[in-house]
Amino acid sequence: MFEERVYCGDLSIDDAGKEVTISGWVDRNRDLGGIIFLEVRDVTGIMQVVFDSSKSKENAEIADKTRSEYVILVKGKIRKRAEDTINPNIPTGDIEIDADSIVILNRSKVPPFPIDTRDTINEEISLKYRFLDLRRETLKEAIIKRHLMMQAGRKYLVDRRFIEIETPVLNKSTPEGARDFIVPSRINRGQFYALPQSPQLFKQILMVSGYDRYFQIVKCFRDEDLRNDRQPEFTQIDLEMSFCTEDMVMAVIEGLLKEIVSVVPGKNITVPFERITYHESLSKYGTDAPDTRFDLELIECTDIFKRSEFKVFSTAIEKGGIVKGLAVQDKGKISRKMIDDYTDHVRIYGAGGLPMFRYKEGNFEGGISKFLSDDEKREIVKRFKLNEPSVLFFSVDNENIVNFTMANMRKKIAADLGLIDEDKLNFLWVTDFPLFEYDSEAKRFQAKHHPFTSPRTDQIDMLEEVTPENVGELKSQAYDVVLNGVEIGGGSIRISDPLVQNRIFNKLGISDEEANDKFSFLLEALKYGAPPHGGIALGLDRILMILLKRNSIRDVIPFPKTQKGQCLMSGAPSGVADIQLKELSIKIVE
Ligand code: AMO
Repeated sequence: MFEERVYCGDLSIDDAGKEVTISGWVDRNRDLGGIIFLEVRDVTGIMQVVFDSSKSKENAEIADKTRSEYVILVKGKIRKRAEDTINPNIPTGDIEIDADSIVILNRSKVPPFPIDTRDTINEEISLKYRFLDLRRETLKEAIIKRHLMMQAGRKYLVDRRFIEIETPVLNKSTPEGARDFIVPSRINRGQFYALPQSPQLFKQILMVSGYDRYFQIVKCFRDEDLRNDRQPEFTQIDLEMSFCTEDMVMAVIEGLLKEIVSVVPGKNITVPFERITYHESLSKYGTDAPDTRFDLELIECTDIFKRSEFKVFSTAIEKGGIVKGLAVQDKGKISRKMIDDYTDHVRIYGAGGLPMFRYKEGNFEGGISKFLSDDEKREIVKRFKLNEPSVLFFSVDNENIVNFTMANMRKKIAADLGLIDEDKLNFLWVTDFPLFEYDSEAKRFQAKHHPFTSPRTDQIDMLEEVTPENVGELKSQAYDVVLNGVEIGGGSIRISDPLVQNRIFNKLGISDEEANDKFSFLLEALKYGAPPHGGIALGLDRILMILLKRNSIRDVIPFPKTQKGQCLMSGAPSGVADIQLKELSIKIVE
């Protein structure tokens, strides 16, 4: 019965006159007085099927009995639709099947939401009935594109002699900075596996083992607070290469992304991507993942206000704070109400307020303008190259808060004023990351990327000299790739010298004992002829989310978790039977 089945989406006017068998789900059922029109949906598309009761009363009656989402099998002949019934909105809209037979293969309950529209539906319901949501066009498009991207990526890498190798899921902890999901071992009581935050250690081991180009499309697990671009389990296109430079890794990724992006029609990218150093990125945009589809650069003006009569600025600067400003040529679009809203809004970034004034034809108006001296005004005009009427916003606080506030305000203002070209894909490399950052609460250095990242070769001697004050000067060979202001990938050239690796652990306060406990296998491997190597991992879900302009990463993952880490369809996570806990020697403490 099923052997001759063809896909709806594969049929076209060229097939007119052919006898075909299709099967799928009833999308719509219309009775136009003795003629029943069924729209039948399969994974590739939709086909209109016509049952004329004057041809077969029995078939028309069966067709009439079908309801939305019934599963049917239909045989009939392809024919051109009558001119007035052509549907230009679907690829098969100019043909239909003149049915000869119909079998109802299964019935369906009434679905809790319509399958045949692109309308958004309540997310909780759509996640609970994910099996139905997956039938809808919007999600199906994401799932199919996801598949095509994986195939395109895989082919590109295989063609360049990368070998796909699986690494274990039941693991020891990998230090990517998030919490681990842990899995108790029944056989080894009281001991736990960690699910991989990434295959980092294993891919480095594979380099030592001589597989000099590795890749894997791999699930990673991180127990961290969830956001719209974060899931507890997500997919990386992960790769590692031996005998490579940063430029070589970047060139591979540019080619790979070009292939992946070409899966979405109309999207093209130019390579090589622009590059910006971490330092410049923070200075100009306040973030290491800037959206450069629009200008709006931040301008530091701490020096201008150092001795200002305006104490809000000068006192903060005296305490070690900085001032950065943003000049927006708003063409009169920024209203008083918007300014009030912005002033409230910045509190979520930890800022006390958003000092501002307007500039027009040499005049400073409103906001803090009355507190500024003539010298300060002159300097501001020069520094911001003021010419057109503009609104100037400032942030004053410690560097982190200023950058965080201004980076977010830059994006918000650009969005509010419609300055962002939503069709543009802006890829950017961020390079020269500092090797460490200083955690002043814990009073210790931390790896900015991860502890296997190599310092710049000409700076290795600086390792022991690093202090909390000069920590930014020691650069690593790490790089991130950013798309439209979202970090979509990150990697580095690794340390292949076990002595340097030990020096890094020392600086990070990781004792020999701890290093041995956690990564002895890598440290040992590095002693047996480790080639110079480096790599990167791309976040597949994030790339897809941006390319398809979806608001959330959940909209491109077949079975995602909610913000609370739950799968509303299966009910995970859930309790387990007492017997299971007993076998694992685990007791739940309330
Ligand atoms: P990193 O931690 O930067 O690097 O991760 C690489 C990319 O994975 C994506 N990503 C996520 N996507 C969705 N949900 C999450 N919770 C999540 N966390 C990360 C991001 C990110 O850029 N082992 C290194 C790579 C290397 O050095 O080769 C690593 O995992 O797009």
